[in-house]
Amino acid sequence: MHDAVASIDGWLEPGDSMKLYELGCSTPGPFLEIGTYRGKSTTVLATALRDAERDVEFYSLDIAADDLARARAALAERGLADRVTLVRGSATAFFRALPEFRPRFVFIDGDHSAKGVGRDLGPLETRVPEGGMLLFHDFRNPRNQDPRDRAYGVPQAIGASWVARDCEFAGEFGCAGLYRRVRGPDPDDTGDGRAGVDLIGLDRAGVRVLVQVARPVKRYLARYVPMLRRR
Ligand SMILES: C[S@@+](CC[C@H](N)C(=O)[O-])C[C@H]1O[C@@H](n2cnc3c(N)ncnc32)[C@H](O)[C@@H]1O
Repeated sequence: MHDAVASIDGWLEPGDSMKLYELGCSTPGPFLEIGTYRGKSTTVLATALRDAERDVEFYSLDIAADDLARARAALAERGLADRVTLVRGSATAFFRALPEFRPRFVFIDGDHSAKGVGRDLGPLETRVPEGGMLLFHDFRNPRNQDPRDRAYGVPQAIGASWVARDCEFAGEFGCAGLYRRVRGPDPDDTGDGRAGVDLIGLDRAGVRVLVQVARPVKRYLARYVPMLRRR
């Protein structure tokens, strides 16, 4: 598999590619990848889904539009474009748009600083269910051990997060570290049934007050005040 993606730029080691392919073939979805870059790891996962004839929801995020365009081209060239949805944005923005998304496999390969990995793990805490798998790229990278290198701090971020509390270590593969969640949200709880894509900008205070306060109050009052029911 590693050779099949050799022409796509990226930093995957053969052991990373092999594990990604294996997880792509067998791990329950949905999948989320943070850090698409030119689509090397995305292609490995999408190829695994195709080879294993699996219909799994798969989103891949990146903040860089030019890299996403190249990833899109790499996937299209291989006939894999319909296996993954590429999204421009951070994990925080993604979950603001899809608050009900519950990934069971997450490949974390975006911002490798302790702060960046910690930020990506934030919205995953309430979304990755028990049994979910997290694969951290650059888990074993010498740069993590250099305190002057602020761009790398993957194990440090893991150690300071809910992953250290709720997950068990499942091994090193290439330079990646795999964790399995053993305590977490019920895997059968698929959320509260809200729309999958919430297009209302809840980050705007006015919209938030309307949606989260004014409308529920009006709905509540309408139960007791007949005049309000027809509006
Ligand atoms: C190491 S590369 C990803 C490599 C890719 N997974 C592969 O194996 O081919 C890291 C990517 O993460 C993106 N990135 C950096 N910070 C990010 C963030 N906060 N959220 C999403 N992507 C981010 C960068 O633009 C870059 O393309």
